[in-house]
Amino acid sequence: MPMPALQFPEFSQPTRLQLLQGPQWRALGAPVWIKREDERDGLLGGNKWCKLMGHLQAARAAGYTQLLSAGGAWSNHLHALAVAGARYGFSTTGLVRGNPCQTPMIADAIAAGMEIRFVPRESYRERHHADWLQRLTDLPQAWWIPEGGAGPEADVGLQQLAAELEAQTDGDVLLAVPVGTGTTFAGLVKALPPRFSVWGFQVFHDANLCKRLTPVLASARAGWQLWPTVSMRQHRTLSPELSAISEQLQAEEGMRLDTVYGVRLMAVLPQRLAQHYCLPATVVILHTGGLQGLRGHQFLRAA
Ligand SMILES: Cc1ncc(COP(=O)(O)O)c(C=O)c1O
Repeated sequence: MPMPALQFPEFSQPTRLQLLQGPQWRALGAPVWIKREDERDGLLGGNKWCKLMGHLQAARAAGYTQLLSAGGAWSNHLHALAVAGARYGFSTTGLVRGNPCQTPMIADAIAAGMEIRFVPRESYRERHHADWLQRLTDLPQAWWIPEGGAGPEADVGLQQLAAELEAQTDGDVLLAVPVGTGTTFAGLVKALPPRFSVWGFQVFHDANLCKRLTPVLASARAGWQLWPTVSMRQHRTLSPELSAISEQLQAEEGMRLDTVYGVRLMAVLPQRLAQHYCLPATVVILHTGGLQGLRGHQFLRAA
């Protein structure tokens, strides 16, 4: 008998829009809001959950009981997958890049029931090869979720997020989103109507991302643009400038952002907006969660 389709109560209510109060935002002349996706769920907040829900549905529909994915030792994605798998009745395996190590993320994932396998960096680098998984021995028969929760299944949750944004706003909207693989950005651009313009802020230096996204977004109705941030290549450590922005956000807005994506976006956005010739009626920033990674602060400072 087929298993019943999954329902996700986490998506029964929209997450709130919080108006930013800091002087750098108020000076812009258009209200700047932040969509608190981090508040979607105590453990499953941020864009990770949006990207995962379609994978869970597809895995259930295809009869899989195990989920398999990959990431780093601080991966927000593996953290969310471990929690989501436990909550929705899947076993999970995480392929973690590098030598065996312990991080709070790995400890949480194991506590949630995830099996962790470490994959040496030389092998992990080949992960985009078609037969990479076949080369790793003794893997379970599992639904494969590409690194970061990418793949067409990610669009399911991102369409729900887009529908919330549409219902919560009027008129022209500029939506600012941090970009890693570009899955969240592309899914939102594809799902939003023409009154939205989506700015993606690239955290990693990837000169080909724009080229890869252009055909994917060819028939999108929303506008889109990619911008660089304070790239990870320039600042592998958490610089004093980024630390100060993080502290300022906490003091002015009562809010934390993750330091890999969110704070890097915030470091460049006010200036980008100030330089823009004509701001739309509303600016919305997507809070993509990842706050579990803040426990790596010491590590970032020391790296
Ligand atoms: C906190 C946070 N923000 C943004 C992103 C970037 O998302 P994407 O890889 O979909 O571009 C990630 C990665 O999933 C993330 O963990």
